[in-house]
Amino acid sequence: MHRGKGMKFVGDSRVSADRKASQIPKDYSEYPGRTEAFWPNFLLKEWLAGAVFLIGFLCLTLAHPSPLEGMADPTNASYIPLPDWYFLFLYELLKYEFASGDYILIGILGIPGLAFGALLLAPFLDKGPGRRPHQRPIAVIMMLLALTSVIWLTWTSAEHVDWEARAEMNKPIPPSNIEINKDDPGYAVYEANCMGCHGDALQGVSAPPLIGTEHTAEEIAKIAREGINTMPANIFKGTDEELDQLVKFIMSVNEQAE
Ligand code: HEC
Repeated sequence: MHRGKGMKFVGDSRVSADRKASQIPKDYSEYPGRTEAFWPNFLLKEWLAGAVFLIGFLCLTLAHPSPLEGMADPTNASYIPLPDWYFLFLYELLKYEFASGDYILIGILGIPGLAFGALLLAPFLDKGPGRRPHQRPIAVIMMLLALTSVIWLTWTSAEHVDWEARAEMNKPIPPSNIEINKDDPGYAVYEANCMGCHGDALQGVSAPPLIGTEHTAEEIAKIAREGINTMPANIFKGTDEELDQLVKFIMSVNEQAE
């Protein structure tokens, strides 16, 4: 068969027209028995491989469901939304003065648009025939710069996040069959002093839940007055009688939970 008779040319932008004949790769017809029809042979094989991969992936996601956070709660002002780790660099970028406030458009459109636009336009901007890194210094430098900034921004962002505390705080709230007696005099005291942080059902919001607490009644009374760790002191400003009602209320809810 003559070269090229089978019409199997594939355009390759990197092969210049005046290349010597000896450099041009051989025609596929010179590999008898090692070619196959695109349809159905090749395509079916591709699909089969794709299906095996997809089903494997599906099994994996079923076996290890993604750790979802709790239900979205628009009244929870203490919730700090954070992107997943692979978008942290964009999040971190918005903390810089030149990319936030009055310049927020630079942060959300300008810089990312320039970076992704350059990536899109790379084939048109970088048309040199060489493919080796040292033949394309500008493209290589840009890529290294982008890579370093992404890694660096992700790193600085992740440094300020206590992932474990965040995961704990945003854990889905388990359905509870605890009934809160709103007629309990301690409930009003709780509502006025503690609910904002510890939740309307003691389930915890920005502060840990008070259900299942290991503290005794005396300790809770002390914590209400003096705080503990990151809970500030003097949160409770009522009378001793109200404090007594409050602690009794918290303990009674805890008894239900046991
Ligand atoms: C400003 C928010 C806020 C308010 C209001 C608040 N707490 Fe807290 N509370 C916290 C935080 C935060 C912690 C976690 C402290 C730590 O261990 O770092 C905490 C922890 C506690 C603990 C210990 C929980 C445990 O199991 O470790 C108790 C008990 C407690 N609070 C009781 C109360 C009571 C009672 C009130 C109402 C008088 C109250 N809190 C009001 C923020 C608050």
